[in-house]
Amino acid sequence: MCGIVGYIGKQEAYPIIIKGLQRLEYRGYDSAGVAILDGDLKMFKKKGKVSDLEASVKGLNTSGNVGIGHTRWATHGPPNDVNAHPHYSHNQRLAIIHNGIIENYSTLKSALENLGHTFISDTDTEVLVHVIEEFQKRDGLKLEEAVRKALKRVIGAYAIVVVDKEDPNKLVAARKASPLVIGLGKDEFFIASDATPIIEYTNRVIYLQDEEIAIIHHNSLEIINIENEVQDPEIHELEMKLEALEKGGYDSFMLKEIYQQPDTIADGMRGRINVEEGWIKLGGINEFQERIKKAKRLIIVACGTSWHAGLIGEYLVEDLARLPVEVEYASEFRYRNPVINEDDVVIALSQSGETADTLAALELAKDKGALIYGIVNVVGSSIARLTHAGSYIHAGPEIGVASTKAFTGQLTLLTLLAMRIAQLRDSVDKEFLGKLMKELVNIPDKIRQVLELNEKVRYIASEIQDSPNAIYLGRGYNFPVALEGALKLKEISYIHAEGYPAAEMKHGPIALIDEKMPVVVLANNTNNYDKVVSNIQEVKARKGIVIAIVNEGDTEIKKIADYTIEIPATMDELAPFLSVIPLQLLSYHIAIMRGCNVDQPRNLAKSVTVE
Ligand code: G6P
Repeated sequence: MCGIVGYIGKQEAYPIIIKGLQRLEYRGYDSAGVAILDGDLKMFKKKGKVSDLEASVKGLNTSGNVGIGHTRWATHGPPNDVNAHPHYSHNQRLAIIHNGIIENYSTLKSALENLGHTFISDTDTEVLVHVIEEFQKRDGLKLEEAVRKALKRVIGAYAIVVVDKEDPNKLVAARKASPLVIGLGKDEFFIASDATPIIEYTNRVIYLQDEEIAIIHHNSLEIINIENEVQDPEIHELEMKLEALEKGGYDSFMLKEIYQQPDTIADGMRGRINVEEGWIKLGGINEFQERIKKAKRLIIVACGTSWHAGLIGEYLVEDLARLPVEVEYASEFRYRNPVINEDDVVIALSQSGETADTLAALELAKDKGALIYGIVNVVGSSIARLTHAGSYIHAGPEIGVASTKAFTGQLTLLTLLAMRIAQLRDSVDKEFLGKLMKELVNIPDKIRQVLELNEKVRYIASEIQDSPNAIYLGRGYNFPVALEGALKLKEISYIHAEGYPAAEMKHGPIALIDEKMPVVVLANNTNNYDKVVSNIQEVKARKGIVIAIVNEGDTEIKKIADYTIEIPATMDELAPFLSVIPLQLLSYHIAIMRGCNVDQPRNLAKSVTVE
């Protein structure tokens, strides 16, 4: 949430920062700003996209070799020019960019007001930079010392970078519970809230740890902790490729990511499954196999789309491994005093690996002695580093805010995990498992076939694009897919949509059905097929518009539905892989037809690092 970029070196800072902010725009995009040090401290801020900032700065002097920039997702105060970061200190000597929330900001603010400080923005960030200024003035401290002292007063989460007009060849950065990466160049350093703006300059990075402070000159880097002890950071080599951050000929990242799924799923399986020899290997669990085998319960914690993947994980693990599973919203789990035992395994599902609630839920589970396991996309992310064990989904950077390839990547890993636990617990017939493994390996090809239905999906989208509401229904493995389909539509087209277990429709949503209501029904799983047919009849009896996802060759539903999308048949356990694809495409086309920005839907952010 919010994008942070900093640069110090010999090059012009402004273009590097603007490009970095564009790469980070998927994290937040309601306003943006840059501060450049060049003898003086120059500040440029604008409500809107990074392109609006660029346009407003055109023709102004932006030169300087040290600078910081920010793209915002508002927490305190509405998006406007004043609330945009960077923020000045009261004496306008310091400027700060910040990602996170300072929870005790109002107490700090009152104390500062008593000292004569006035504030121009509504943000918690402005308060923080005033606190730093106060330490600097009062005790005559160097910038890094003033930052360290100020951070000791702060309750909350932060990733910050601060510059000082009177100490112009230096950046001071710090983090707690909000990521910050430092890229190491030759006589230059890059700072960012994730590695995407850094990769085109260097692949050598340091992930700042919680409560660490980096003091950065163009030719030196020192890291201390909040107790002023010098740290010895580990340098990581990034494997990400620059092409992965480009649209690659597609109109949007979302469409590219939808089309990447056959490959990303195959990448997630690579080296982890061998059908002929009948093995599944998840390197991450090797060391903990006995503990997982003997676990009494598995708890999956996640948010958003990842939570939907978690529900499918529950069905898979209970079905195949006969191990009880609970799926929890991380934000509820962490605050509801849950029972967690040492023989529980807690799995976090997270694309970004940074979602604040998921991270906190894991910390809680770790403290209670559970084994914690991460299924994460972003390599080196906070969740990946916190867990005892984990498996990356290897989907590559997901830039579109609405998650697509990360969802199917999570399903891939959950299916492998469920099958592996089933093997360990000897809970499933070997022949059946062999069949399932074989079918999983075929899934990428079947998704390619589903993607060929794009034109048909686009046509259906054109028929229902003006509906203000939609209902999604599914049963069994397809119930969570109905939730995910509804979420995709809401997120990017702003149409109100609800996902329901098909049978639950009778307990409320049926009251909404009339001749204007599109009802998307997932009917490609064979279990419960007849029951789904009855549910479609119930919708048709109330004149609802039925769009059904069915298996190729289906005749029964075709007779009653208004539109059908025929996809290749698969085993029920894997049905979500195929049924979710038309739903992703449907929401994509509807959003485009309604003139919405699919990659950057309003009010959303890709990586939710605040609670
Ligand atoms: C945000 C994103 C969603 C995502 C959710 C959880 O809301 O917009 O796409 O599903 O966060 O994020 P995570 O990175 O933990 O999977």
